Amino acid sequence: MSEAFLPSSTSTVTQAGMKIERIVGSEVGLEDELLEAAKPELRPLNFDDYLGQVHVKENLKIYVKSALQREAVLDHVILHGPPGLGKTTLARILANELNAPFYETRGPAIERPGDLAGILTGLQPGSVLFVDEIHRLSIKVEEVLYSAMEDFQLDIIVGQGPAARAMRMPLPQFTLVGATTRLALLSKPLLDRFGIQERLEFYDSDALCNILQRSARILGIQVTEEGAREIAERARGTPRIANRLLKRVWDFTVGFGKTSIDRVLADAVLGRQGIDSCGLERIDRQILSIVAEQYSGGPVGIEALAATLNEDRATLEEVYEPYLVYRGFLARGSRGRMLTAKGRAHIEAAAGLLPGTR
Ligand SMILES: Nc1ncnc2c1ncn2[C@@H]1O[C@H](COP(=O)(O)OP(=O)(O)OP(=O)(O)O)[C@@H](O)[C@H]1O
Ligand SMILES: [Mg+2]
Repeated sequence: MSEAFLPSSTSTVTQAGMKIERIVGSEVGLEDELLEAAKPELRPLNFDDYLGQVHVKENLKIYVKSALQREAVLDHVILHGPPGLGKTTLARILANELNAPFYETRGPAIERPGDLAGILTGLQPGSVLFVDEIHRLSIKVEEVLYSAMEDFQLDIIVGQGPAARAMRMPLPQFTLVGATTRLALLSKPLLDRFGIQERLEFYDSDALCNILQRSARILGIQVTEEGAREIAERARGTPRIANRLLKRVWDFTVGFGKTSIDRVLADAVLGRQGIDSCGLERIDRQILSIVAEQYSGGPVGIEALAATLNEDRATLEEVYEPYLVYRGFLARGSRGRMLTAKGRAHIEAAAGLLPGTR
């Protein structure tokens, strides 16, 4: 396989403004946006098509059913968890299942209380208002949100200086669905106003395999059960990555003049791109190796580890670490990060299997 044939990796920018080039990055990249724009039906529209996350889905189904029976608005919902697990998708499904109008915005887009007032007063009764990256709302905007969420009232200061006066306006009833990858950054008063709080977990490979087969059907991609399983194993528990890898492997499959993705082909394509059997890339293995070699297996503080890697702390915490912890390669303790026996075994095996990737 020639280097020229290798597609470029996904490039994303983290909140800290870091640009990361990764094929298995879980944040949304241009490649994912193009794929979604070309095939919007990839994103499930109802609970039945939303595969995996059984626990979260069952809870939400009950809340939706109860709200519909009571003819009341659904309580406010916060969805949290790592990127690419389906928070935005679930927010849209909630609106769809409630048969409610859906409005979508992002925390950083609501700059001033007046922006929020404009959004809230424009809602139709019963709407679902989805605020992505809700941890990035400013405190001034957040304060206006409190009474809006609690009493469906808008408390706002109109005018400036001596002419300024407080105004209270009734709002249509609505459901706020907030999404965040960083729950710890949400203030307690805001968090307390969400009656429904659900955490999305990484998907197991059975669920990812089902998601891959559904995506393959929609995209007209032929993939064997073993081929789908091989991709699922390397998709870091994340549907967004699974879909991206499926598309990648398919591009190679077509390039090789083959008609179906099988296990051998998936293994060859993904291995060639430095993605190992657990979905780890070079940087992930580097993190494990640094903890092993430079810090004798840990514990090592997050700041020291970030400095050694020449990465910023937020990137390490948000982008790389959650999956390494989830797979049991890295442990987070009160004194810092530690390499587990499983993590050590993995880098030793990878060093033998993937020469030049450490
Ligand atoms: N349970 C699921 N079943 C099938 N496809 C899914 C599922 N969850 C997510 N997807 C697919 O994965 C992609 C990413 O999902 P989504 O955009 O909802 O993630 P997110 O959690 O909002 O990510 P971010 O934190 O980056 O905003 C979507 O294209 C969607 O089609
Ligand atoms: Mg999202």
